[in-house]
Amino acid sequence: MALTKPKRDTLDLFFLCFSLGLLFSFAKGNNRLSAYQVLQSYNLPVGLLPNGVFGYTLDRYSGRFSVNVTSNCNLHVAGYEIVYSSPITGVISQNNLGNIDGVKVKIAFIWLNILNVNRNQDQLVFNIGGFVDKSFPISDFYSSPNCR
Ligand SMILES: *[C@@H]1O[C@H](CO)[C@@H](O)[C@H](O)[C@H]1NC(C)=O
Repeated sequence: MALTKPKRDTLDLFFLCFSLGLLFSFAKGNNRLSAYQVLQSYNLPVGLLPNGVFGYTLDRYSGRFSVNVTSNCNLHVAGYEIVYSSPITGVISQNNLGNIDGVKVKIAFIWLNILNVNRNQDQLVFNIGGFVDKSFPISDFYSSPNCR
């Protein structure tokens, strides 16, 4: 009896290490996705992020998503002037990016925050400033725009 107990503990420890190893490689597997692939894994198009996004954090449970762009990034999408400022944060779920912070669009000379993007089949619906919804065809976002 006295001899078998330490063996059991060793075995338990072995399995604990083995499980932690699996968890670790699983987490590493998630990290190997690019920020753009993360968008796609939630059925959102890559064009929601500009080119040059480096690194990101994602909590798969809460959906909290955070990315940085190289520097302040101005660009034009679908005829609108947009500015991305690091860090860009939001909560991602299937077909939706909500609670967005760090993305502004210029409408009639006023800069307004883009707060939510929702995919409705082939349309993307942007909530701007909490009071305007604007729809665009998803094909406008098939590729990532370049910052100027
Ligand atoms: C973004 O930049 C901030 C400030 O430099 C840094 O604290 C944060 O870790 C960066 N996030 C990512 C995802 O790289």
